[in-house]
Amino acid sequence: MKKISASIHLFVLAIIFMAALPIQAQTPSDMNRFIDELMGRMTVNEKIGQLNLVTAGEATTGSVVSTDVEIKISEGKIGGIFSMTTPKRIRAAQELAVNQSRLKIPLIFGLDVIHGYKTIFPIPLGLAATWDMGLVEETARIAAVEASADGLNWTFSPMVDISRDARWGRISEGSGEDTYLTSRIAEAMVHGYQGNDLMADNTLMACVKHFALYGAAEAGRDYNATDMSLHRMYNEYLPPYKAAIDAGAGSVMTSFNDINGVPATANKWLMTDVLRDQWGFGGFVVTDYTAVNELIDHGLGNLQEVSARSLQAGIDMDMVGEGFLTTLKKSLDEGRVSEADIDRACRRVLEAKYKLGLFDDPFRYCDESRAEEAILHPAHLAKAREAAGKSFVLLKNDGHVLPLKKSGTVALIGPLANTGSNMPGTWSVSADLEHTPSLLEGMREVLGNRVNIIHHHGSNLLEDADYQERATMFGRAIPRDNRPEEAILAEAVAAAQQADVIVAALGESSEMSGESSSRADIGIPAIQQRLLAELLKTGKPVVLVLFTGRPLTLTWEEEQVPTILNAWFGGTETGKAVADVLFGDVNPSGKLPVTFPRHVGQVPLYYSHKNTGRPLADEQWFQKFRSNYLDVPNEPLYPFGYGLSYTTFVYGDVTLSSDSLQSIGSLAVSVEVSNAGEYTGEEVIQLYIRDVVGSVTRPVKELKGFRKIRLEPGQSERVTFKLTVDDLKFYDAHLDYVAEPGEFVVFVGTNSRDTREARFVLAD
Ligand code: NOJ
Repeated sequence: MKKISASIHLFVLAIIFMAALPIQAQTPSDMNRFIDELMGRMTVNEKIGQLNLVTAGEATTGSVVSTDVEIKISEGKIGGIFSMTTPKRIRAAQELAVNQSRLKIPLIFGLDVIHGYKTIFPIPLGLAATWDMGLVEETARIAAVEASADGLNWTFSPMVDISRDARWGRISEGSGEDTYLTSRIAEAMVHGYQGNDLMADNTLMACVKHFALYGAAEAGRDYNATDMSLHRMYNEYLPPYKAAIDAGAGSVMTSFNDINGVPATANKWLMTDVLRDQWGFGGFVVTDYTAVNELIDHGLGNLQEVSARSLQAGIDMDMVGEGFLTTLKKSLDEGRVSEADIDRACRRVLEAKYKLGLFDDPFRYCDESRAEEAILHPAHLAKAREAAGKSFVLLKNDGHVLPLKKSGTVALIGPLANTGSNMPGTWSVSADLEHTPSLLEGMREVLGNRVNIIHHHGSNLLEDADYQERATMFGRAIPRDNRPEEAILAEAVAAAQQADVIVAALGESSEMSGESSSRADIGIPAIQQRLLAELLKTGKPVVLVLFTGRPLTLTWEEEQVPTILNAWFGGTETGKAVADVLFGDVNPSGKLPVTFPRHVGQVPLYYSHKNTGRPLADEQWFQKFRSNYLDVPNEPLYPFGYGLSYTTFVYGDVTLSSDSLQSIGSLAVSVEVSNAGEYTGEEVIQLYIRDVVGSVTRPVKELKGFRKIRLEPGQSERVTFKLTVDDLKFYDAHLDYVAEPGEFVVFVGTNSRDTREARFVLAD
């Protein structure tokens, strides 16, 4: 990219630009007039140019790289660029657009700002485990402040794909398995990114993705097909996208997958009937990376055919593949698409630019002084540390091994103990991996010399060198130790024997989850399990600190290891945040947003399943002619919503304000929760319902509310939820959204399994 830096030059160019383009005004009708006038001056090729999104390639997020970007900008063949950062580079690109292209239309600049920009927060699955919507919104707000200070105005987030299959690597990027929780997080993130004013120079336009059902890829294999009933789609998988749109998300990204025979990127029913006509979405739709071109491999025709079909389905912008740029004019000339199709897409892209204020000031996000002040601001890092601490889930703490004393000797062992670059987790493309503290460094910083920390890696990440290389692509390599496994292990065990307690930092590298990172075996890799077994044999207390981007099967670990803290990937401040929790400065409060199976053969496994006609009786492992397995119980290892604390919360009975709910009205559901332990702690009180009899089968439990409270030792609080008829509604067999009169059970508890219940009737 040519860099034009002389400030006088910039000033003169800016004056020229301002003179060339009318100043944009603020109301919708002003916007329409402005765009009508602009489009009246555009050629068809210039309109098609607006539909072209290219990558500048600063981060590798796909396998094709855009070419001749500068020339194309000058020729008006590009509408937006992603994967370019810094006000300086972005200003230079914007100058080309507003000075060299005939109509001087500014570019939009996007990036995958997924869980933070430079200050990285926990991976989305970890953030979901906080169940703290205020915090989630704040993290998105900070991400927007930092990214916009670095020149960006558009983020490819939130990712709201429900997933119930832990084999799918991208389960790490979403908020887990639940419709209600994911919907609330979707809203919080959109509000955080967009604030109240998209034109403000510190907000980003959100892009909800991947529309739709990407998380239901068959067999958990990335990019695989999905086939799903409309009933399930409407009730379980689509609501989070709709929630993000209702919260105002300015754009939507298509998913790669086939949906009941028509890939999303060519799916008119999805992109027009559902998204536009049923939901009233008014923003623009961008494809995922080369998703138009991939329609060829899906088997829908050649590039010209699939580009035309995709446009007609309702897609507005083509990411990287340039199918639109290179074929739409020909299709127009041949009568395969209409000018109205092109106009519609062009208008939506221009509207987005208008809403971002780019016609007013194309350099709105290019203030170089802001970046230094905003990025990695101490307040942002403090929030990252808080978010990380709140995202960790204490899975087991037998004999109260945790919290540890801030004295004595700790052996910190494991291939993930001293690898800072793995702490941010997947999709942290703008993170400074070189300067992220590892767990070892974080612990040293927090504990100073009060605790003697001995460190050894104890094993490689994976046995198979090829697998390890694939699992540590993109610069987060965990160097292999080429000595024999026994030698590496013996050294670590000898060191561990000198310690009072062993902290084993094991699990996945950050690239073992995320895009293109599906796994068929979702256990802790065998070589690390062998290390763990040897550490346990020392007889010392062992704390397993687990790094993972997905639920792992921890059945053996649950039986053998006294203490397990699931740290996901906690972002920039992971190292310190783990130390905060291990040594009791922070009491863990995270709750699983996704079920942890016992065995990979159980997936898809989720709490809100249907009952079947042959359910297994409670507490039973196996009954003949019932819905179960011969070799594994039905129950998960850790249920949805599960997570321990250093303190103990006691729940009272569930009381209802009435045993019947009228069709207009509400019911108060309340429960008293007490802190019966010795530590101040936070608890997420969860409310589920079951519709006992319906015109169609209903899930055994569905989350409908949650509240996070903080209690001092000995303190109690009565928590009250309001249930309305809307909470009881679902899409019936005709896809009508209804609440059906009859009996309901309401459950309240500390997770989806351990609940207390009450019953009420929805009156006719
Ligand atoms: C492909 C991914 O599926 C999507 O989530 C991402 O936003 C784009 N690449 C752009 O990097």
